[in-house]
Amino acid sequence: MTRDWLRWHADYDTAGSSLSRRLRVVQDYLERALTEAPADPDGHRRLISLCAGDGRDMLPVLARHDQGRTVRAVLAELDPELTGRARTAAAELDLPGVDVRTGDAGRTETYLDAAPAHVLLACGVFGNITTEDVRRTIAALSSLMVSGGIVIWTRGRGDDNGPDPSAGVAACFTEHGFHELAFTRPPDARFRAGMHRLARTGSGDPPDRLFTFVP
Ligand SMILES: C[S@@+](CC[C@H](N)C(=O)[O-])C[C@H]1O[C@@H](n2cnc3c(N)ncnc32)[C@H](O)[C@@H]1O
Repeated sequence: MTRDWLRWHADYDTAGSSLSRRLRVVQDYLERALTEAPADPDGHRRLISLCAGDGRDMLPVLARHDQGRTVRAVLAELDPELTGRARTAAAELDLPGVDVRTGDAGRTETYLDAAPAHVLLACGVFGNITTEDVRRTIAALSSLMVSGGIVIWTRGRGDDNGPDPSAGVAACFTEHGFHELAFTRPPDARFRAGMHRLARTGSGDPPDRLFTFVP
């Protein structure tokens, strides 16, 4: 890892920043996903967060949603400082169903026991991996999710005025059997966020590797 991801997280605390606005959208999406995603017959849902950071997009929402009692969530994040923060937050919010793992989210073995997931977060991932890896990851998600499962994802707009890369991400989801539930593209911010539902049966064995972060 070459980027300072701890510093990256600090922008969440800047009022009105693109990242703080993105957080609200992702949390709203997750609230919706927790009511609209399918669940097991006993009402439980499995969640996976890839490259989860400090978990602030997921943990407060789980606490509001029946105190996380019907959720088993695996948060996979490489940076031990960030996983420490996520574990502390989960403990403070009294979320016993949350399992924070310090590990490589590019390798499916890190969270394979939590699949097939009902809800999967891929926030802050697609802008840090190659287009080929974005495609490989999206193509593989049907092997990690239940039919009807919901993916919440983000993609930065970038700093130039060229084509918006988030459009390609959304199109790739459609190509791989997902149906668009929401797509937020504020004209005055660089973040984009989408929510897609797997519209066909989850299938196949997941590959060992989905992606590698570009340094
Ligand atoms: C852009 S941040 C997004 C964090 C979080 N998902 C969010 O949206 O707030 C990218 C995160 O990916 C983590 N990361 C980088 N490579 C990783 C890998 N191979 N496996 C797991 N996490 C990784 C970084 O430490 C960083 O926390």
